Amino acid sequence: MDRELAMEVGRVTEAAALASAQWMGRGLKNEADDAATSAMRNMFDSVNMNGTVVIGEGELDEAPMLYIGEELGTGTGPEVDIAVDPLEGTSIVAKGHPNAMAVIAIADRGTLLHAPDMYMEKLVVGPEAAGLVRLDDPIEKTIDIVAKMNDKRVRDVTVIIQERERHADLVRRVQNKGARVKLFGDGDVGASIAAVMPRTGIDLFVGTGGAPEGVISAAAIKTLGGDMQARLVPSNQEEYERCRKMGIEDPEQHLSLDDLVKSDDAIFAATGVSSGELLEGVRFLGKDLVETDTIVMRAKTGTVRYIKAHHRLNQKPHLLETK
Ligand code: FBP
Repeated sequence: MDRELAMEVGRVTEAAALASAQWMGRGLKNEADDAATSAMRNMFDSVNMNGTVVIGEGELDEAPMLYIGEELGTGTGPEVDIAVDPLEGTSIVAKGHPNAMAVIAIADRGTLLHAPDMYMEKLVVGPEAAGLVRLDDPIEKTIDIVAKMNDKRVRDVTVIIQERERHADLVRRVQNKGARVKLFGDGDVGASIAAVMPRTGIDLFVGTGGAPEGVISAAAIKTLGGDMQARLVPSNQEEYERCRKMGIEDPEQHLSLDDLVKSDDAIFAATGVSSGELLEGVRFLGKDLVETDTIVMRAKTGTVRYIKAHHRLNQKPHLLETK
């Protein structure tokens, strides 16, 4: 993939974040999601690539835009798989809560896991503990390994977990082990990547969240040299069927980072909508001036770019919401 594509993909997440941030705190999550989706979809039209959506807003009959199988880009350029979450954290934006982002992962054609929209168990660590932890190990053992490799006492290890009833036992076990728990409400892409980024103070991400979000996070985790292990959690016969339809023969197989993102040539981009673990949110500075923070990562070179951009909304009327 051309390296220029990384910058282009960052422009696409910026557009989605700018559009959805205008719905922040208005209690209207579908409107925020629609704004992000259509801004992202429009911006993709100008990107030189031959892309196919493998993770998107749903099947063709459920989603008018960014549906699975939709072709994106000008049609000239690299053949790629595209995974999008135009608004990661729709409820967050509606409520004005932190941690919402617009995110995209791109990789060579046929190399992103076509994860269905269901739950996935996930374990994520930084480069120090990469290759040493196992999804099926007891959490207490994982914490010991992470503490040793990060050169910390167990009491200084921070484990980030999504605040959900299904994680109540996990939270208790981490606390009984003596480590610290950082709970977050929504947005596990940012939370899982924070466990791999340097200087976040977060050592381990664990828990069950969306499978599509898992694949998107994996592109960033690969760039950062971290480790991720996962397993789909189909909860009924229909979900098993959906896995098989998407080419996953054994829906309960253990998934390594390479199973999630096969290629070493992957790009991840995210723009903050509301401030979170990874990025600042969109800031409206007055006089139609708006500031965004974007992170773009390229697995092939390991480069991580932070892009702070100033946008003039009066010169981008297509991104202005009327409400
Ligand atoms: P949405 O953008 O679909 O609202 O997802 C937010 C999110 O928190 C994800 O980050 C996470 O993977 C998933 O929801 C967890 O699902 P649930 O809310 O059902 O626990």
